[in-house]
Amino acid sequence: MAHYMLYLSLLLTLASLLQSSHAVDYVVTNNAGNTTGGARFNNEIGEAYSKQTLSSATDFIWRIFQQTNAADQKNTQKVSLFIDNMDGVAYASNGEIHVSANYIGVYSDDVRGEITGVLYHEMTHIWQWNGNGQAPGGLIEGIADYVRLKANYAPIDHWVKAGQGNRWDQGFDVTARFLDYCNSLRNGFVAELNKKMKDGYNDSYFVDLLGQNVNQLWTDYKAKFPTILLY
Ligand SMILES: *[C@@H]1O[C@H](CO)[C@@H](O)[C@H](O)[C@H]1NC(C)=O
Ligand SMILES: *[C@@H]1O[C@H](CO)[C@@H](O)[C@H](O)[C@H]1NC(C)=O
Repeated sequence: MAHYMLYLSLLLTLASLLQSSHAVDYVVTNNAGNTTGGARFNNEIGEAYSKQTLSSATDFIWRIFQQTNAADQKNTQKVSLFIDNMDGVAYASNGEIHVSANYIGVYSDDVRGEITGVLYHEMTHIWQWNGNGQAPGGLIEGIADYVRLKANYAPIDHWVKAGQGNRWDQGFDVTARFLDYCNSLRNGFVAELNKKMKDGYNDSYFVDLLGQNVNQLWTDYKAKFPTILLY
């Protein structure tokens, strides 16, 4: 009996070690199949590739956030992607990602590469912490674009260069470049920042992690990458 209990507890320990990440279901729905963009989605991107990308993006994000255990991950079980007739590019909420068929229809370059990058950005919104609603929107968007940058799916030609922008929390590419600089000062900085944003947000998190306040970091960053002005 004692042996049996020992084996059982060993087995349970082993099972919990093996079950590192939780399983996620991915569902893709094209609601725009008979429009130009909807047809282009089917022809040039497709349901199978999208599902595979959603899954790869999730693995990549958990790795970059250092959340390899299910206990550290947001407890979302299912992510649904919709291709919709709508304005704008894309948004994520409540386990759903919506991508504009109109945008897919008019995009002039490699549309599959572009939508892959968009999916990495939106998938980051699915898994990142938002400081319980208190974090600046620009930081949330900056972290999503930081993930896209690190995954090598950023449209570099359309992005600002390092050192460009007016404020650290301007959002998107500007904040992504700044976070990349912060992460170069301390490897794993973005993962640590995201972990701290689980329950709340305070600019002092930058001081906790890097020993300097965020405005000083922004000043140093701007000095390190001077913007060259051509007259
Ligand atoms: C697309 O199909 C839906 C129903 O399947 C229909 O209501 C709609 O009118 C169609 N749109 C176009 C542009 O053909
Ligand atoms: C943010 O952190 C600073 C320094 O720890 C603290 O003085 C301040 O009260 C905090 N602000 C909020 C809103 O919690």
